Amino acid sequence: MDPVRTIQVNTAPAYEVRIFEPAAISSSVAGSQVNPFLPAKQAAEEVAAFLGAKPNAAPDAHGAAPDQQAALPRVFVLTDETVDALYGDTFMDSLGPLRESAVRMVVPAGETTKSLTSLGEGLEAMAKEGFTRSDVLIALGGGVIGDLGGFIAATYLRGIRYIQVPTTMLACVDSSVGGKTAIDLAAGKNLAGAFHQPALVVIQEGFLYTLSDEILLDGLAEAIKCGVIGDASLLEGLESLFLPSATTETAAQSVRARLLTPAALTRVITAAIELKRRFVEEDERDNGLRQLLNFGHTLGHAIEGASSYAVTHGHAVASGMYLCGRASKQLGWSEEDLGRRLEDLLGALGYRLVYPYDAETLYTYTMKDKKRMADTISLVVPVRAGRCELKKIPVSELMDFITAALA
Ligand code: NAD
Ligand code: GLY
Repeated sequence: MDPVRTIQVNTAPAYEVRIFEPAAISSSVAGSQVNPFLPAKQAAEEVAAFLGAKPNAAPDAHGAAPDQQAALPRVFVLTDETVDALYGDTFMDSLGPLRESAVRMVVPAGETTKSLTSLGEGLEAMAKEGFTRSDVLIALGGGVIGDLGGFIAATYLRGIRYIQVPTTMLACVDSSVGGKTAIDLAAGKNLAGAFHQPALVVIQEGFLYTLSDEILLDGLAEAIKCGVIGDASLLEGLESLFLPSATTETAAQSVRARLLTPAALTRVITAAIELKRRFVEEDERDNGLRQLLNFGHTLGHAIEGASSYAVTHGHAVASGMYLCGRASKQLGWSEEDLGRRLEDLLGALGYRLVYPYDAETLYTYTMKDKKRMADTISLVVPVRAGRCELKKIPVSELMDFITAALA
């Protein structure tokens, strides 16, 4: 099966992001017509072909084609319990000649898995199984699995190849591309990590049909962010997709019905990755332009922290974008009222715009932000749709910013 889009990311090494639309319609999952097994099968076949496995080669007594056995890498598949229950067996069984020597590691789902403990367990498992430098890790899951798997791959034997197979909207539009890998420490999120680009990203849109409404919205927030910071036509496209109201639909039904179509998914995922590709190619190490990807994240992280991570990342970022848009207009930093525009779009999608944290609480958590310098903090400020800029403000002005956001 051919990808509907291929995006080349010119980092060192360069790699492709291959985007596949759901191929067949044969059963109903969460109200949408898609076969839940096909994405896993097709993703595994794509990975196998990329690694040189010929699916139709006759296997020998050990299950591998004789002329391939020596040349093929072994694969270490990292996934979480939820993804494994849905897709794990199909994925493993579809690896063709790679299946025999493959190892699968299944970790608990959720952010707490991005830990030193999981990193250690992953490294130890790879070493115990005798994986070598020519072998490959496959991260089959959302951003948690991608970040953890990428960091295991970055550190095992000082770096081996890995392939991202994202299964959440967030991972498709953001975390699977760009090579940021990380785990969390007790002091905060993503405090240990490495830049390590994947060898390939395989996006099978069919995976997204089994996501819950909340998890789908987490990823959609990052796509909206891409529209605001660098692609006005993406923002307009999302507005025309979601703003026309249908009285019979709830917000959640509207998201599923309008987003979960191959045309909409491909448009949104492609635009978000194109934007990220541009930023990452120009600033792979996050010293300037790439920081614009943090739009909405300063107050978003404060909301996540204040809620003890009960508010998930994308929902917190959605509120953070809205609040930043409001404050930026009020403080005269924006040409356009992005706060109002985001209020309409995010509201129609069912995001909560403001969480019950007062200015003092948001200030306290913002001061813990790892991007804060001694006495300045960098904000990503929306100038107009499709254009943001970095603005360094003294910490002494942070309270004014938060007060304007909540006013
Ligand atoms: P996640 O990986 O925890 O996935 C969310 C939930 O969805 C999990 O419970 C998972 O088991 C489940 N799930 C995954 N795929 C599914 C499917 N197809 N059907 C049903 N359920 C499925 O979270 P996420 O939102 O994908 O990613 C969040 C993480 O990404 C955070 O740790 C964040 O720091 C990181 N992140 C990294 C980058 C980067 O550039 N590296 C960028 C943004 C976010
Ligand atoms: N998600 C932010 C980045 O990749 O830089």
